[in-house]
Amino acid sequence: MTRIDLLLVETRMRRELSPRSTLLCDTRETEWRMMNRPNGSDVSYLDYNATAPIRPEAAAAVIEAMQSVGNASSIHQPGRRAAHRVDLARRQLAALLNCSPGEIIFTSGATEANNLALRSTYIPGRPLVTSPVEHPAVLETARMVTVERPEDLVLLPVGSDGLVDLNAVEQVFATRSGGVVSLMRANNETGVLTDLRVVAKAAREVGALVHTDATQIVGRLPVDVAELDVDLLSLSAHKFGGPQGVGALYVRRGTPLPPRSLLVGGEQERGLRAGTLNVAGIVGMGAAADVVRRDLSEEAKRITALRDRLERLLTCALPNCRINGRRDQRLPGVTSITFPGVPADAVLAAMPDVAASEGSACASGAPTPSHVLLAMGLSREDADSTIRFSLGYVTTDAEIEHAAQAVARAVTQVRSALADGSR
Ligand SMILES: Cc1ncc(COP(=O)(O)O)c(C=O)c1O
Repeated sequence: MTRIDLLLVETRMRRELSPRSTLLCDTRETEWRMMNRPNGSDVSYLDYNATAPIRPEAAAAVIEAMQSVGNASSIHQPGRRAAHRVDLARRQLAALLNCSPGEIIFTSGATEANNLALRSTYIPGRPLVTSPVEHPAVLETARMVTVERPEDLVLLPVGSDGLVDLNAVEQVFATRSGGVVSLMRANNETGVLTDLRVVAKAAREVGALVHTDATQIVGRLPVDVAELDVDLLSLSAHKFGGPQGVGALYVRRGTPLPPRSLLVGGEQERGLRAGTLNVAGIVGMGAAADVVRRDLSEEAKRITALRDRLERLLTCALPNCRINGRRDQRLPGVTSITFPGVPADAVLAAMPDVAASEGSACASGAPTPSHVLLAMGLSREDADSTIRFSLGYVTTDAEIEHAAQAVARAVTQVRSALADGSR
């Protein structure tokens, strides 16, 4: 039995057995937690919005699929077995989203899903409505497809609380009809949520399609595509404990898409996504979706409590820090905190035992400040002094305690080093 098999068995036992047995399993879980810390060291990993640790069930499913030969398009027995595995994953993901399996197109992640969604639905001369706080995979695609007709691109205003002004959607559609609206359900930097039902209602009245980038919310809060009333939805497996490099686009049945969208050279995914299916990745995503669906509300409650505790500890230790974004309309595990006058990169460097992000991870390394925080009206200096902490299913109380102490120490250290330097 491999180490992963062992952990899997014990995770299942933990669910089913008495509290006494839970103790035994906790030891194994601690091992699992340690394995998921970078370099196996004692780092508090608070960067789930960049990527979450793979769930044991997903890792086991990936390994099992990788050890089996078979192209899901082949008609021989190994190929058919691979296709069956893919079918199961499609059903598992569909159950998480409350859609039918035939409405899912597997992709390499949310970046590709967002590209596919916008490149397929934008029609020149019709509006493409989005917001300045979207992920670059939406914003840059939207700019690219409308480059010859920039008047088609409409960016909705955003408030200082990170909420997109949804009344503006109605105003856009008072004079224009058709087209597509693309708004993220949850922001990757602040966690702020958008009420898509309002958007869908306005869009339906003028025959526009609705796409949402749901990458950060799938697996963190319930997502029901029927209730949201969207036509297209993008997601990425590694944000909810599946493997990296695999995701999906939900396309509501009957939504018109060109028969071949981004890639040519294969008929996979009903001709909408050419290329050999990533069977192991897809199977891992299905397994993660299956676990998440069963544990979602309990996990969300536990993670919200941990996030609130981190905020309490930090605002108590560093009274002038500020939490960004609408606090009562956020994802459970995300907090974006500005430490005025203290550059975030210096704070992160001063606490190697805490893994968190400056703005979004995708933007880290780039010299520009977060476009999301700037759109919310933060100054460049404040945006550069902001850290995003994102918690998830493996985060513990002890990690929060440790991270809060480390952050308070690092901020104080950097602040006094800056003060010394300016004397
Ligand atoms: C909101 C959002 N959309 C899209 C993506 C892109 O996901 P991926 O890199 O897995 O394709 C991310 C990644 O951070 C994200 O946070």
